Amino acid sequence: MAITPPTERIWWREPVARVELVWIAIAFLWGLVMFFMMIYWHGAGEQNLSNEAYRTTPEAFAAKAEAMTDQYTVREETGFPVVQPPPGSDVYLIARLWQWWPILELQRGESYRLHVASLDWQHGFSLQPININLQIHPGYEMVLTVTPDQAGEYAIVCNEYCGIGHHTMVGKMYVTE
Ligand code: CUA
Repeated sequence: MAITPPTERIWWREPVARVELVWIAIAFLWGLVMFFMMIYWHGAGEQNLSNEAYRTTPEAFAAKAEAMTDQYTVREETGFPVVQPPPGSDVYLIARLWQWWPILELQRGESYRLHVASLDWQHGFSLQPININLQIHPGYEMVLTVTPDQAGEYAIVCNEYCGIGHHTMVGKMYVTE
């Protein structure tokens, strides 16, 4: 029992049971398999993105997101600007307590450089239903190239617990034909 003191004080010199050694070996080998799968899926998987991260500050990132939003807003929805940036451009998405801002409207089949950063603390970017997941740390700007291949309405869900409003931190992204 772990909650009582060991009867043999020098417990680490005790012989290890064969079955325990087998389990340790299995766990170690499985660890190795998972390690190499990580490298394999980086190339062959569809969820692992070759993303980039750059240092930023909340002020600098907010300024870029606001500049894009001022220039390309096409309408408003529930108090959020809906932004239609030109294909091929850099698009910015702010994560903050507890929203994703603004609503991006992208064109199907076009590529964009999507920048995501947090203005306060850690959030999780999860684009559904295509299941792209990124950790969003304050002070870092995550960049990924996206080429949406299906039109429709996507949900951006925060999947990192970020406080009392975490469950309400759901945003939207549109992809149009
Ligand atoms: Cu943001 Cu959870």
